[in-house]
Amino acid sequence: MEPVPKENVRILIADDNRSHSDILMSIIGHAGFECDAAEDGTTALKKLETETYDLVLLDLKLPDISGMTVLRKVLRLNCRPQVVMISGQGSVQAAVEAIKIGAFDFLEKPLDSKRVLLTVKNALEKERLVRDKARLMKELADRYTMVGQSTGMDSIREMISRAADTTSKVLIEGENGTGKELIARLIHHQGPRSGGPFVTINCAAIPETLIESELFGFKKGSFTGALTDRKGKFQSADGGTLFLDEIGDMSLLTQAKVLRVLESGMVEQLGGSEAVRTDVRLIAATNKDLKKQIERGEFREDLYFRLNVLNIKVPPLRQRKEDIELLVDYFSSRYCRAFGAEPKRFSPGAVEFLKNYKWPGNIRELKNAVEKIMVTIENSEVHPQDIDGILHPGSSTTGLRPFVPLTLREARSRFEKELIQDRLERNHWNITRTAIDLGITRIYLHRLMKDMGIKSRRKPPE
Ligand SMILES: Nc1ncnc2c1ncn2[C@@H]1O[C@H](COP(=O)(O)OP(=O)(O)OP(=O)(O)O)[C@@H](O)[C@H]1O
Ligand SMILES: [Mg+2]
Repeated sequence: MEPVPKENVRILIADDNRSHSDILMSIIGHAGFECDAAEDGTTALKKLETETYDLVLLDLKLPDISGMTVLRKVLRLNCRPQVVMISGQGSVQAAVEAIKIGAFDFLEKPLDSKRVLLTVKNALEKERLVRDKARLMKELADRYTMVGQSTGMDSIREMISRAADTTSKVLIEGENGTGKELIARLIHHQGPRSGGPFVTINCAAIPETLIESELFGFKKGSFTGALTDRKGKFQSADGGTLFLDEIGDMSLLTQAKVLRVLESGMVEQLGGSEAVRTDVRLIAATNKDLKKQIERGEFREDLYFRLNVLNIKVPPLRQRKEDIELLVDYFSSRYCRAFGAEPKRFSPGAVEFLKNYKWPGNIRELKNAVEKIMVTIENSEVHPQDIDGILHPGSSTTGLRPFVPLTLREARSRFEKELIQDRLERNHWNITRTAIDLGITRIYLHRLMKDMGIKSRRKPPE
């Protein structure tokens, strides 16, 4: 057993018999733990309500209230310590009863110093585990919080809990940064597989030549550089969930192999001779329109039907504007908690500005923008121009601009050209998305681009 760290550990001894309590104090104090004493139940309860202890050694027989009554009250405290009962001869039955309702253990008088120390250490170890678990659960809840009260978010929550109750495959569709991975993790954590692994693979980020060895694993010597056997993601996710991210970027060849695994439930490592059964729950996500990809022959229809048992479509942030303020509050208070920063107020104009922005990068972009605001804006109140400076660096809308000799018409068309070019860049020269952003039709955007001499070009993928 790992030694219990002695710093900051506090133990309360509640016993009316002075000589007993002195013995306990000296055994425990000698071992390096900090002790405090109470001579009756009322004093003990008062101390427990106002101070923090890790452990109470509680005599069953106290002069004012019974040890059992004190125990029941301690168990109802929010931040309750472990309790070890001390029983006299003949009260072992009551001590057993105390364990049944929540005491950790009991010590019988006359006290044996070795047994006292062992019980104290065990109880403190249990306390440490309880606190670690509470901290981890809090961290987990914090990490997987899904903020939003829009109807879109409500129906996503409902889909998540429906999906968590089954083992059916799920296809999550949505633009970049809308929360697809968060949804996949929530389905995993809310379901019966939460104790199992959650393994992710990003099909867009892994070169085509490596994706199969990543997915299926390989046997030593199966190719140059395969120095040892290695499990693939399918096997690593056994008993848990495999999250196939950016499935729309998977090649047709790999799609065929994945389909075979899904049909048979068996995985064969590269260079291996026998297939292994795996029990994996599959969740896939994409920001592409798979139906269009099927039409173009880029995605297998049979794989699509296999994956698309439950379908979750995540709306872009611009279609759930009512969530923006909540998300800003959430990300800014999370930032303040993590870095001990002073909270900031967003002026009504700033909130309006955030609501009117189109958020092409969705929640991820909003989260990054809030973090940037918290880091770079010194004032305690955030104004629209601060946000503008962060979302559109270099395009300050405040202060006097240098004098430029232009007519209104010239200035307007120059501004329009810059705006269109900027939006095209941001949308990686995707005409449809840019047109949506600008609130105009694709045809009109094409015409403006032609008039302004903006040549269409797609940016190479980063
Ligand atoms: N409703 C929400 N509430 C709080 N945080 C959210 C919400 N949705 C997404 N996030 C956070 O926004 C960030 C982006 O989310 P996530 O990675 O799940 O999006 P994605 O759709 O998988 O993005 P991409 O397509 O770029 O991979 C993450 O930090 C995530 O925790
Ligand atoms: Mg993602």
